[in-house]
Amino acid sequence: MTTVEERQAALDAIAGEIRACTLCPLHEGRTNAVPGSGPVNAEVMFIGEGPGATEDEQGLPFVGASGRLLDELLNMIGMKRDQVFIANVVKCRPPGNRDPRTSELTTCAPYLDRQIELIDPKMIITLGRYSMARWFPEGKITQIHGQAKKIEGRLIMPVYHPAAALRNPSWRPQLEADFKQIPALIRQIGTIKDEEPPEEATQLSLF
Ligand code: URA
Repeated sequence: MTTVEERQAALDAIAGEIRACTLCPLHEGRTNAVPGSGPVNAEVMFIGEGPGATEDEQGLPFVGASGRLLDELLNMIGMKRDQVFIANVVKCRPPGNRDPRTSELTTCAPYLDRQIELIDPKMIITLGRYSMARWFPEGKITQIHGQAKKIEGRLIMPVYHPAAALRNPSWRPQLEADFKQIPALIRQIGTIKDEEPPEEATQLSLF
């Protein structure tokens, strides 16, 4: 059986690969790659978009203005940053904080897949549109934020990105309301049913 120490070492090894990664052009402009932070046995994972200037300087996720808001939101629900794993869909800063390109998202995705597999969190909170799109490619964040769905045994809840709430303060109460659901959802996780598989999969399984 794999121990926590072995899993933590595997997670640290992925971080090492990310720091040395040159698979997409984003590596050219980085000061530091930002693999993510938190313990391998975290029950909850938060996934943002990509590092900004402060994160690129420090090599840590959500340490700028958005990070301060994320800390406040975690505090509000009695959680601490060192209990959760915080990651991004792209691990290097897009120049000038532009949106990540599809090719960059696709190239970087296996790192996040491997982090999720190792951490195996009960719940994932996606921060903003890019991480939402991994699980809800057709979803509109204004319509589906705060709606948790169990997918393959894990609860996934999209919420607004903290940066969006900083730009648009009228969104903040909604972001807070969505966060306030997290503790109860974690407690209830065992009673929540998995989403039905897509129709095609159901039909195929008939044959
Ligand atoms: N915004 C993100 O999406 N991720 C960070 O790490 C910081 C800001």
